[in-house]
This record gives sequence, C-alpha cells and structure tokens, in this order.
Amino acid sequence: MKGPQLSLPPQAMRAFGYRVVDLIVEHLEQLANKQPSHCPLRRDLEALLREPPPERGEDPQHVLEQAVERVLANIMHVDHPRFFAFVPGPSNFVGAMADALAAGFNVFAGSWFSGAGAAQLELVVLDWIRQLLGLPESAGGLLVSGGSLANLTGLATARRAVLEDKLESAVVYFSDQTHSAVLKALRLLGFAPEQMRCLPCDAGFRLPLEQLCAAIRTDRAAGWRPFCIVANAGTTNTGAVDPLEELAALARREGLWLHVDGAYGAPAVLTEQGRALLAGIERADSLALDPHKWLFQPFEAGCVLVREAKLLKQTFRILPEYLQDVHRMQGAVNFCDYGIQLTRGFRALKLWMSLKVFGLAAFREAVARGLRLAELAEQRLRASGCWEVVSPAQLAIVCFRYRDSARTESELDRLHLDLVERVLEDGYAVLTSTRLRGQVVLRMCTINPRTSEAEIEETVARLERLARR
Ligand SMILES: Cc1ncc(COP(=O)(O)O)c(C=O)c1O
Repeated sequence: MKGPQLSLPPQAMRAFGYRVVDLIVEHLEQLANKQPSHCPLRRDLEALLREPPPERGEDPQHVLEQAVERVLANIMHVDHPRFFAFVPGPSNFVGAMADALAAGFNVFAGSWFSGAGAAQLELVVLDWIRQLLGLPESAGGLLVSGGSLANLTGLATARRAVLEDKLESAVVYFSDQTHSAVLKALRLLGFAPEQMRCLPCDAGFRLPLEQLCAAIRTDRAAGWRPFCIVANAGTTNTGAVDPLEELAALARREGLWLHVDGAYGAPAVLTEQGRALLAGIERADSLALDPHKWLFQPFEAGCVLVREAKLLKQTFRILPEYLQDVHRMQGAVNFCDYGIQLTRGFRALKLWMSLKVFGLAAFREAVARGLRLAELAEQRLRASGCWEVVSPAQLAIVCFRYRDSARTESELDRLHLDLVERVLEDGYAVLTSTRLRGQVVLRMCTINPRTSEAEIEETVARLERLARR
C-alpha cells in the first residue's frame, strides 16, 4: 500500500506552477503602480495568520491565494522603483526563475558527489566575480546567504590564517561607519569589545589613515597584537569608500590581514566611475560582496572571496567518516570545505542565468544608472534650496538634512524622524533616516535600475512639501 507521497498529480502541479509564474509576472508588471510601503501591525497579522498546524491538507490553489492575499500583500516592496530605504533589493525575473529551478531540482551544492554541475557552475561564476574585482587567480570563495555570512566567513579565515585561532590580545581595526554585520561576526568569532578598535571616521566618512597608524603603534607598544583591518568598499550610511590602496599598503607593511566589506558597494567595479573609487579593492586578503544587492539577484546571494583560496579550506575543512565517499575524486571541489554550510542551495544558478540572459553590459549600465540617479537626486535637493546635502552622491547614496534656522538641532532631528513617517503615510516612496555626525539625516539609495528620473524628481518634490507641512 502506498503511503502519502507529498506530491500532486502532474496536471495539478502544472496549474499550480503556472499560477505561481503568472503571479510573479503580474507583480513585476504592476509594481510601479503599487504603493511600495506597507508595514501592518503585529496584532493584525496574528489575527490573519495564526492557526494550529493544519492536520488535513487543502486545495493547493486555495493555499496559494491565501499566501498571496495574507502574506505577500503584507510586505514592503524592496524591489519597487521608489524604494530608496536601506539597501534595496531590485532583483530580476530570470534570477527568480533560476531560484525556482534550483529548488525544483533540489540541487545540493555542498559537494561534488551530489551536485557536480552546480559546483562547476559556482566555480565559473566565482571566477567571473574574481576577474571583475581584479583579484589574482589564487583567489577563490563561495556563495553564501548574504553580507553577514560573507563577512563572518572572511573574518573566520583571517582568524585562523593569522592567529591560528588564538585570539588573546589580538586587535581588529575599523571605522565607526562599519556595518553591524562585521561587529556581529567579530563577536561570534570570540573577540571581546576591548579587542575591537572602532575609530571615528574622517570628514568624508572614511577610516582615517593617520589615526589608524597611531592606534596600531600605541597598541603594539602596549603589548596588543594588531591583526586585521576591516575596510569599507561602500558604507551603508553614505557609500563612502575607505582608502583601500593606502590601507592595503599599511596592512602589508604591518603584517595585518585586510578584509574589505564591499557587500553593497563592490559591484560598482563594473563601471569606470566605480572602478576608480574602488581602486585597491583587488589587494584585499578577503572580501564580501552581495549579489542580492547591486548585482540584482533575488535574496539570498552573498559572496566571499579570499585571496588565497586554500586558506578557506584550511579554516573550514573537516573530514568525518560519513563523508569519506565525497572526498574520493581527484580535482573535485566540495564547497562544504570552503564555508560553514554542508547542505547548501544552488545560488550560482541565478547569477549565471541572469548574467547570460542580460549580459554583463546590461549589468554595467544598470549599476551606472544607479550612480546617475543619486547624482540627480543630489542636484534636485541642492536646487530646492531647503536641504543641506550632508553626504553627496557616492555609490548611489545621498544623505541630506532639512534647513530651518527657526528650529533647534534636536527639533530638526525629531522632524527627520517624523518625515520618515510622513513619507510612509504619503505612500509614494520609501526612504529611511540615519545619523551622521550626531545628526539625524534622510538617506536615499538609488540602486534600482527601474527607477525613472521623474520618480526621483517627484520624490524630492514631495519631500519638500512634507517637510514644510
Ligand atoms: C556594507 C554592508 N555590509 C554588510 C551588510 C549585511 O549584508 P546582509 O544583509 O546581506 O547579510 C550590508 C547590508 O546592507 C551592508 O550594506
């Protein structure tokens, strides 16, 4: 007697799958006409979704409609052309379909044995990224969930390669603009707060070289072991790029590891402007880059590259007896040896398929467009006369603050927090605030290539009206 198959008849599978594709295409077709912002209350979603585990199955089409109406209708659209908050996720249709394909075949990308084609394709895609960044052929890495895991993987490799995992008195240097993912990674890796030197950034929001040199000197004199510099290739706050060439030279002189967090900014190397800004990135010992940000992939896709790929293997490779058959083939690459995950999905497929379908030139133009849109936003903000541009357009991010001599600084701070609310209520666009030099500012990140110039102009015009209200 047959037990439950957890399957559907072929016709029902097709109907279900076709409906899913239709829903995705409708979403993308309609997106610009929808409101980007929607953030319901917890109690409303509890009422909508809380239920006991369903003992009996339901009609698949009915469940699908429930997912659309109750779940997908209750999210922010981070792929919306007017979503300028945090780091948007513009994504792309081909990448999304590639994810469906990878899930449908349930590809196991942890070992050559179980997914040789997937492993080979990941090698190819990683080598493309390596070439774009200008890293040497000795470099290698793997695709991970995102920037958080990419930073953790790179820093874990640094810890093992430089310190042989002996952390005592080792010190890491970074600026106060560094993403919390790096702090989280260092904490998880066992570094205590007193082993982290968080230096105040310079006037351009970069890691200040002189202060860094002085801190290293002082630390050595006091018996600490300087071991690693974390540099930003595009900070989340302002898009600032730390002086990578100088930091690489300093790291080499001092025998330190240089880890570069380019989770959001590194893909700008595709463009001439970005390449100039990111000069020196190719000298990193390890590097994080997120294809799910500015390489337009659906979540999740992060990438870590290490200058000497063999160091990843020395950090992560463990050979248990139940995997002995996995490690028998000459030349086989087992990505489980290069990172934290054993079982891992096939993230390379979406990058490979979308790069092949659209071509690198289209990606380059899409990144360049993001750079230009932030410059346009800056120009409009300056032209309006009521905004101070606190950080000019850099790697598609611009930060600004309302001018009003009648208000105190703390009243202005309050106004900017209120403005985020007003923008959400208005519903046209989404943008968020941050704090620069102690002041609350508004911030726009314009990496979505489907944003129009008119949408940038209308957003700035509405901001002015909302601020004057
Ligand atoms: C510079 C930087 N580093 C790290 C991260 C964390 O990446 P993820 O959210 O993909 O884990 C981000 C996310 O915005 C980022 O901008």
